[in-house]
Amino acid sequence: MKNKKAKIIIIIIIALLVLSSATLYLFLNSKRLVFEYDKVKEVSLNTKITNLDNIKNIKNGKILTEEAIIDTSKVDNLKITIEVEDYFKKIHAYTYNINVIDIEKPIITFKEKIESEKGKKIDLLKDVTASDDSNEDIEVLVEGEYDINKPGDYKLYYVAKDKSGNTAKEEFTLTIKEKKITTQNEIRPDATFTTSKGFSGVTKDGVTYIDGYLIANKTYSIPSSYGSGLTKETTNAFYEMKSAASLDGLNIYISSGFRSYNSQRIIYNNYVKRDGVDVADTYSARPGHSEHQTGLAFDVNIINDSFAGTPEAIWLDKNAYKYGFILRYPKGKTNETGYKYEPWHFRYVGKNLALVLYNNGNWLTMEDYFGITSAY
Ligand code: DAL
Ligand code: ZN
Repeated sequence: MKNKKAKIIIIIIIALLVLSSATLYLFLNSKRLVFEYDKVKEVSLNTKITNLDNIKNIKNGKILTEEAIIDTSKVDNLKITIEVEDYFKKIHAYTYNINVIDIEKPIITFKEKIESEKGKKIDLLKDVTASDDSNEDIEVLVEGEYDINKPGDYKLYYVAKDKSGNTAKEEFTLTIKEKKITTQNEIRPDATFTTSKGFSGVTKDGVTYIDGYLIANKTYSIPSSYGSGLTKETTNAFYEMKSAASLDGLNIYISSGFRSYNSQRIIYNNYVKRDGVDVADTYSARPGHSEHQTGLAFDVNIINDSFAGTPEAIWLDKNAYKYGFILRYPKGKTNETGYKYEPWHFRYVGKNLALVLYNNGNWLTMEDYFGITSAY
């Protein structure tokens, strides 16, 4: 009997123990911290997120970390830590990664059609820009082949790549046209202007004067009707110079003086037939652009390269300025004048300017001195 009682008591105690530990277990379990989040989170550039947006579920916890905006303006790998206090005041730290990625390709702003002229240098990147959401400086390249000396349509591409490898490719057409030969039928409109070197220019009745000096070059034309012979001042100055040269035992004579628009047209067209436009343009003026039509210029003696270095050429180079003439196309000044060296071609400008352009034997060009171009 005694035994039975003891047995019952033990069973009750065991039952109570089981019950209380089950209750404790259930209690603890119901207060267990639940915190669900992604260990790695990928977001595109410039996504608006905070450090807490990655929490999927939380129970029995209090977030201690303050909410903060994440900087997603550049490609990056960020480590984020969030501290959470559980029901029992214990603090847990959770860490996750945010990978900021760039999935957008750059945007290229460009012209779909570009036109140029045969032989002319072109900068295909002149009007092209590329931008990217990453804010990096994006380089644009041109893909495809073209030949500026072969007229035609070329299909080319602008290619821009950002650091993450997102590539944009845009097609455009480059059209190379045959060179336009501007025979001067059009008369330059009346104008007043200031040159890059501060000289004042005026175009009146199709003729351009800079600082009072008539200019005829590849940029500045004269009307087809202009001119009727060498001007009086030019011939007078020439004979003065000729006499001085003859005292030194040299014979200087004019081989080609005034040339009308029409004779220049015939000469130039013959050269084009023989050598092509590009070469002809290096030594012969297109009609309407020749100084020979101004009545202020002439070629002396031998009109070819063999004249260079002759006693007459050397004498003229040293003395022509004293009579008001300039060596109009000096050696090494093709970039300025537009023409090859012509030791035989002299231009009357008067003694003052001639002295300045003579420049102690180091000839300046009208283009350089006045600050003007010579180009078609
Ligand atoms: N030879 C010069 C440039 C002319 O033709 O006028
Ligand atoms: Zn000439």
